[in-house]
Amino acid sequence: MSSPVIGVVGSGAGGIEHLRSGLVEPLLSRGYTVAVTLTPTAYRWLESTGEIDSIAAVTGFPVRSAPRLPSELSPHPTVSCYVIAPASANTVAKLALGIADSQALTGPCEALGTSTPIVVFPRVNAAHAGHPMWEHHLATLRSGGAHLIYGEKVWPLQTPRGNPQRPLPWKAIIDAVAAVCRISSSYPDSLSG
Ligand SMILES: Cc1cc2nc3c(=O)[nH]c(=O)nc-3n(C[C@H](O)[C@H](O)[C@H](O)COP(=O)(O)O)c2cc1C
Repeated sequence: MSSPVIGVVGSGAGGIEHLRSGLVEPLLSRGYTVAVTLTPTAYRWLESTGEIDSIAAVTGFPVRSAPRLPSELSPHPTVSCYVIAPASANTVAKLALGIADSQALTGPCEALGTSTPIVVFPRVNAAHAGHPMWEHHLATLRSGGAHLIYGEKVWPLQTPRGNPQRPLPWKAIIDAVAAVCRISSSYPDSLSG
């Protein structure tokens, strides 16, 4: 039986520098196949530190950012579950509005509202959350079936630039992926947990 494919999508938000150690490698060690796509901002950030090559090496797939040519095949396998972490306020807003103007948003925008599970961790601060559309965006994502890692217990909102080094709630994100993949696939619990 092939393992579920987790489509990891990262955006330009704090903590993206730990995407490999915090999310990609733990998912791989649980037996998942992992394919990573980044927003152009996140790609530029991780390229500057050499992380793009490191992620490609551990996953076995190129890290995507630019869309493919119409004549090219996708370099990634079909995704069983998306996890968007960290999701910037910008990426959350675009996903909620269905703005698929990058490769990172193309798959999740198509998946929202379908049976393909989506886990989203909005890595935002109190100012982002104060935007008049913010709660509407979250409500839209929830109504499309997205599982949000959000709220006081997992990510208390802080002032902008309040604590840029705060560790992301990787465990909660991974637990959510395991939970939704267990529901949506026949992958054995002993391997997917
Ligand atoms: C150092 C730095 C850290 C940032 N951290 C965040 C963040 O944690 N959350 C957020 O929503 N935006 C953050 N931003 C702003 C986003 O990077 C910016 O809105 C960008 O356009 C997001 O693009 P993307 O969603 O396509 O990746 C940060 C910007 C910089 C320069």
